[in-house]
Amino acid sequence: MSYINPNEYGSLYFDSKEENAILNVFKNEKIFRYASDKASTTDKFEEMLKKKVNCKYALGVTNGTSGLITALTGCDIKAGDRVLVSSYTFLATALAVKCLEAVPIPLNIDLQNGFDLQDLEEELKKGCKAVIVVQLQGRCFELSKVKCLLEKYNVKLIEDSCQAFGAKINDKYAGTIGDVGVYSFQQFKQISCGEGGAIVTNNKTI
Ligand SMILES: Cc1ncc(COP(=O)(O)O)c(C=O)c1O
Repeated sequence: MSYINPNEYGSLYFDSKEENAILNVFKNEKIFRYASDKASTTDKFEEMLKKKVNCKYALGVTNGTSGLITALTGCDIKAGDRVLVSSYTFLATALAVKCLEAVPIPLNIDLQNGFDLQDLEEELKKGCKAVIVVQLQGRCFELSKVKCLLEKYNVKLIEDSCQAFGAKINDKYAGTIGDVGVYSFQQFKQISCGEGGAIVTNNKTI
């Protein structure tokens, strides 16, 4: 048995189990999503993910950043739209908004609600289409007050839960509290697959 060096990341450790799983994809499955109708490991993973976080839809994507772009697109974000973003985050959150030529507006955070509620309402009054709350370092915010405000202004809530896969509050998983949630499976995350990500939602339109 080998022990993980506490100064390194578990994601750097893999053995024949992972090697065989990858070879199995090459030999017996498909390496492209749309190559055939055969169920792939990714399809199975999406099914497991839906069960794990208890949501209706899950989509595996190439990384958390493309997950955020996909989620924003699902929320109909277009060039010029204002999107409110937690000011304390990894830069990919705002970058995803910029990728769609939309405008990221940094918002003060609050450790209780995710956002400073007064700042949030002031920005909502100026008009915006979506808000991205960031669940950093395994944290899951109590978002009921934020959701109440967003419903009042008819604005979508995207959870950047790239750093919070598996975190829970009031029996709900991070990523399933808002309209759509995004996970990253990059090296430093709770689970890793080299590079990877997923989005989850209960909203068929998204
Ligand atoms: C909060 C946050 N959002 C988005 C991302 C982007 O994820 P990825 O590196 O998988 O594109 C990360 C990754 O570090 C992150 O920490």
